[in-house]
Amino acid sequence: MNVNSISGLKFVLFIFWPWLVNSKGEQNRLLVNMTLVQNATALGAYCLDGSLPAYHLHRGFGAGVDNWLLQFEGGGWCNDIKSCLDRSKSNHGSTRYMNKWEVFSGILSNNASFNPDFYNWNRVKIRYCDGASFSGDAKFYNGTSLLYFRGQRIWQAIILDLLPKGLGHAKKAMLSGCSAGGLATFLHCDNFTSYLPKNASVKCLSDAGFFLDERDIALNHTMRSFYEGLITLQGVEPNLNQNCTSTLYYPHLCFFPQYALPFIETPFFILNSAYDVYQFHHILVPPSSDPRRHWDHCKLNVTACDTSQLNILQGFRIDMLTALRDFYQNSTRDGMYINSCFTHCQSETQDTWFAAGSPRIHNKTIAETVGDWYFRRNISKEIDCAYPCDTTCHHMI
Ligand SMILES: *[C@@H]1O[C@H](CO)[C@@H](O)[C@H](O)[C@H]1NC(C)=O
Ligand SMILES: *[C@@H]1O[C@H](CO)[C@@H](O)[C@H](O)[C@H]1NC(C)=O
Ligand SMILES: *[C@@H]1O[C@H](CO)[C@@H](O)[C@H](O)[C@H]1NC(C)=O
Ligand SMILES: *[C@@H]1O[C@H](CO)[C@@H](O)[C@H](O)[C@H]1NC(C)=O
Ligand SMILES: *[C@@H]1O[C@H](CO)[C@@H](O)[C@H](O)[C@H]1NC(C)=O
Ligand SMILES: *[C@@H]1O[C@H](CO)[C@@H](O)[C@H](O)[C@H]1NC(C)=O
Ligand SMILES: *[C@@H]1O[C@H](CO)[C@@H](O)[C@H](O)[C@H]1NC(C)=O
Ligand SMILES: *[C@@H]1O[C@H](CO)[C@@H](O)[C@H](O)[C@H]1NC(C)=O
Ligand SMILES: *[C@@H]1O[C@H](CO)[C@@H](O)[C@H](O)[C@H]1NC(C)=O
Ligand SMILES: *[C@@H]1O[C@H](CO)[C@@H](O)[C@H](O)[C@H]1NC(C)=O
Ligand SMILES: *[C@@H]1O[C@H](CO)[C@@H](O)[C@H](O)[C@H]1NC(C)=O
Ligand SMILES: *[C@@H]1O[C@H](CO)[C@@H](O)[C@H](O)[C@H]1NC(C)=O
Repeated sequence: MNVNSISGLKFVLFIFWPWLVNSKGEQNRLLVNMTLVQNATALGAYCLDGSLPAYHLHRGFGAGVDNWLLQFEGGGWCNDIKSCLDRSKSNHGSTRYMNKWEVFSGILSNNASFNPDFYNWNRVKIRYCDGASFSGDAKFYNGTSLLYFRGQRIWQAIILDLLPKGLGHAKKAMLSGCSAGGLATFLHCDNFTSYLPKNASVKCLSDAGFFLDERDIALNHTMRSFYEGLITLQGVEPNLNQNCTSTLYYPHLCFFPQYALPFIETPFFILNSAYDVYQFHHILVPPSSDPRRHWDHCKLNVTACDTSQLNILQGFRIDMLTALRDFYQNSTRDGMYINSCFTHCQSETQDTWFAAGSPRIHNKTIAETVGDWYFRRNISKEIDCAYPCDTTCHHMI
């Protein structure tokens, strides 16, 4: 199964999105070095291959010195021994193979002109090396091969490492993440809050993490089956929201944000495209659902989709908005930004987060909308009109 990798997606990004590579401010590019969590050993918190987990921390300054932003890295999942063994030898399963310096841009930028509300916070990028959105707790050993499924312990080890560095007396804090990291934000949001001072302002932001429990075009539950394999292999279920799992007949469904969401007590912001390219390619039209490859052109270039394909994509958008209806209506403490761009992850790339040509809804960029929500400057629940009405999109074609 191909769901476990988004490398194909990155390929598309770099081929067709040249402005990402030559992004403005290249000479001011902020690179932040890696911190290995030495104490993780005491908790048995290891990457798939047994290496130590890691994060990158850039210190806050000025008025932001007591504020903390933690951002989970994304990168798909692994759901069986083979895919996890492969991953354990790559930068998504081992800190040994990771770049030791990370570019901090978009929501991680330290420059107010690129990141108006969070630039002076302590900003942390949490590296992803467990393959289960930081939520597994198991181990595989059959005499020759050894794999650690310890995402939940990695999460705890990193929090415990950061608390004495200032997180423990934060005044404001936000847990965020993109893709598989955006899913981790749903899974760990309330746990994050529990570690912080009671009088701190704590909120969570998921970017491209609202993976929908949707059948594919062959009517199979491809994503549900994929997650079932992952949850079983990596021992995820005990770490899901207990209030959710005790309510649902199929507790493992609480891995899907739409079911866990009503049980999350911390203020939450959902940033997602209604035509999220990862979900389009892996949930709605996975390769198994399209053996004759009728969708190949449409997947690479939305202007090549025919009418019936566009209708199916519109149906996916409606289903996503339906899953978000209570969230949209019920609370004033939450926020959302559901735009109509063929894209995936919009908070870490400068061009989509906050730049002259950034995507907008009602003339508001993502950074402005998230900031308005966090600081309660305005109600921030934006839903874009359906494709193709939005002319501000950076479609991945
Ligand atoms: C890298 O980060 C560590 C903290 O983990 C810090 O002590 C060290 O000075 C940094 N090295 C460089 C070259 O910035
Ligand atoms: C922020 O970016 C602007 C535009 O590139 C630049 O002029 C300015 O010097 C930067 N400020 C800092 C503090 O790096
Ligand atoms: C252990 O698992 C790996 C991966 O599935 C397999 O290649 C290997 O043959 C297994 N070893 C034993 C002793 O079963
Ligand atoms: C948060 O998660 C850790 C494990 O990572 C667990 O030990 C702790 O009890 C959790 N806290 C709450 C309040 O659920
Ligand atoms: C590591 O753990 C030891 C013992 O639990 C503790 O004394 C020490 O402060 C910890 N170090 C860090 C960097 O968290
Ligand atoms: C929370 O309370 C502590 C102790 O009273 C205080 O030092 C801190 O400034 C307070 N934080 C906020 C955000 O009010
Ligand atoms: C998908 O569904 C079709 C029937 O709609 C079935 O024949 C096929 O085996 C299923 N494929 C997968 C990968 O589950
Ligand atoms: C479950 O809900 C109760 C009551 O709202 C709350 O006190 C508790 O923290 C929740 N537990 C979890 C794991 O979210
Ligand atoms: C939202 O409101 C609807 C009724 O309008 C209610 O059925 C639902 O339980 C509410 N959801 C939450 C999470 O409060
Ligand atoms: C996308 O498809 C349209 C219609 O088939 C075509 O005109 C256009 O050149 C394609 N764009 C790219 C970048 O391939
Ligand atoms: C949109 O916002 C920009 C500033 O972000 C402003 O200059 C422009 O006039 C606005 N356009 C409209 C149509 O309101
Ligand atoms: C608040 O949002 C509304 C609707 O998007 C907008 O018309 C208004 O100008 C905003 N107010 C401020 C102070 O930004």
